[in-house]
Amino acid sequence: MKNKNIAIVGATGAVGREFVGCIESRGIPVKSLKLLASARSAGQKQKFRGEELTIEELTENSLEGVDIALFSAGSGISKQYAPIAVKAGAVVVDNSSAFRTDPSIPLVVPEINADTIKSHKGIIANPNCAAITTVVPLWPVHQVNPVKRLIVSTYQAASGGGAALMEELELSTRAYLDGKTYEPKVVKYPYAFNLFSHNTAIDMATGYNDEETKLMREAKKIFADDSMAVSATCIRVPVLRAHSVSMTFVCEKPIEPSEVRALLEKAPGVKLVDDWQNNYFPMPVDASGQGDVLAGRIRKDLSDPSGKSISMFVAADQLLKGAALNAVQIAELL
Ligand code: A2P
Repeated sequence: MKNKNIAIVGATGAVGREFVGCIESRGIPVKSLKLLASARSAGQKQKFRGEELTIEELTENSLEGVDIALFSAGSGISKQYAPIAVKAGAVVVDNSSAFRTDPSIPLVVPEINADTIKSHKGIIANPNCAAITTVVPLWPVHQVNPVKRLIVSTYQAASGGGAALMEELELSTRAYLDGKTYEPKVVKYPYAFNLFSHNTAIDMATGYNDEETKLMREAKKIFADDSMAVSATCIRVPVLRAHSVSMTFVCEKPIEPSEVRALLEKAPGVKLVDDWQNNYFPMPVDASGQGDVLAGRIRKDLSDPSGKSISMFVAADQLLKGAALNAVQIAELL
């Protein structure tokens, strides 16, 4: 990657800040870095490589001269401004759900389908965070023994709801401990010492919420396998920034936990945390701040006598591999 003009749309957000961090920590050569957000944040300063950059308001002219634009300001902003960025000559890596299901737009996890980047026409979609966390450790298995059916339950952190939801978790927890009442502002549920079904709309026809639908659709698109049956239950838990996923999958042929362990030991982007003696397995506090998806609790699903089913538990930093890091890896491949 040679000295590109990079723009971050949503630079003040939970993911936007991690974009800056990933560009810094991965030593990406940058000719210029433009930090864009709403008018509310214009004029604020943010540090990049020892320099103070000024946040600018996103306008129709902001994306002139930009080579790569990393978007994380919600799907409304992406739908409005990504086409403008592409028209101005930029390639957009979009972290919102705006373009993910469009068959003409690649949905990329570099460890899985980096080759699909070549087909982009200006926009590349970064998958949903729970989908990335699920598919990275599942892909090595799928390649040697195709997954026919996948059932996942997620334990999703506040970071998936942005900086405002992270703040709500902190403030409501503090209020709870101080014996004070806290009126929820971002979600309608009490968040401290509680969990709730993911705060996205329910499809009245199926009973699945949007997050679950995204995970189910995106897993198939990323694997380019529409025949894989997927069912998800997505839950928001009072964890600040790493998502966990419990999954049970049924493969085409019988499979041993030892085979899965051997595959994941050498899988890119995966770290095995599977210490049965010490009951030590993937945890969000360990996943926070690192790029790998932690995988463990790999065991035979004893409810399936065919021997084709495995259960495992994984955790990944939602803001890094689940969002900013994956997008920056895509930018590197560009
Ligand atoms: P701002 O901080 O100025 O509101 P998060 O995902 O953490 O909620 O962050 C959302 C990001 O999207 C923030 O950087 C936010 O900027 C940005 N954003 C929200 N609305 C707009 C808008 N109308 N134009 C540009 N950026 C926006």
